[in-house]
Amino acid sequence: MKTLVLLAFLVCANCDPFDEDTFKIFITGSKGKITKKKLTTKKNVGYLDISFSTVEAIEPDSFCALPNLKTLYINGNDHFPKITKQLFQCTPKLFYVTIDAYEKANQELDRDAFTGLKDLNFLRLNDINIGRIGKDMFVGVDLEYLNLVSCKISEIDNDAFSTMSRLKELHLGHNLIKTFKPGTFQNLPKLTELMLNKNKIEEIQWDQWNPLPSLKSLDFGDNPLVVCNITKIKEFFPNIHYCNLADSFSAKQQAAFIEESKKLNLTLRFVDYYR
Ligand SMILES: *[C@@H]1O[C@H](CO)[C@@H](O)[C@H](O)[C@H]1NC(C)=O
Ligand SMILES: *[C@@H]1O[C@H](CO)[C@@H](O)[C@H](O)[C@H]1NC(C)=O
Repeated sequence: MKTLVLLAFLVCANCDPFDEDTFKIFITGSKGKITKKKLTTKKNVGYLDISFSTVEAIEPDSFCALPNLKTLYINGNDHFPKITKQLFQCTPKLFYVTIDAYEKANQELDRDAFTGLKDLNFLRLNDINIGRIGKDMFVGVDLEYLNLVSCKISEIDNDAFSTMSRLKELHLGHNLIKTFKPGTFQNLPKLTELMLNKNKIEEIQWDQWNPLPSLKSLDFGDNPLVVCNITKIKEFFPNIHYCNLADSFSAKQQAAFIEESKKLNLTLRFVDYYR
């Protein structure tokens, strides 16, 4: 069996937006088991990238070798082991996490894997079967960026985002969302960008929404959206200047909406990206 290959590089100043003087570890195209011992280095490792590898197992304390880990990528691996909460028991500085599963890999993840990581700022989980977004996933984290694209999400608890008062970008595209529970958007004063493209939303039902004072951009592309009120969009989102309402409205309706939007300093689009 081939063993896991670890490569550590001294980072040039321009390579890493987060750290200028930490080491990086790349595990790419490798096979085998990840252990704490294999990852251990005396260097200050702030960045770990495990991509396009066949990792057969990972010891739960492996990342304890990297107490200064800030940036983690786990992308496109073939049947990566379950990502557990234990994996992050020794990485309190984690700031940026991207886990992009190989589509058919059926990646497993503890719902509470990232709880308590109070420095976590950016979380992207793609092609992982999450199903329901709940507050239980985010206890003790305070994100600015959350991306749960392609996670088979059909349900969002009304308090799922209730602790995320710093959230700026929320990407929920390519899921199975039809409706929102009233209150879902209640505590998001900084939310600037909301991506809901490629879901199942037919109607913007205003009793499901809360005002989003900072929202600038909203995208419903590739939803079967047929009911919308442009004046309400501006009332609920006073700072909005871009909205994509997808391509299910009649030409006549679109023309009426565009006429309305001109008075409101709002750029409307009617674009489906996948049709
Ligand atoms: C759209 O919303 C505005 C503002 O709330 C309201 O006055 C208007 O009647 C609504 N239009 C339709 C067609 O429901
Ligand atoms: C219209 O929106 C733009 C941002 O797209 C903003 O810079 C500008 O001040 C707005 N104009 C008015 C009259 O509100």
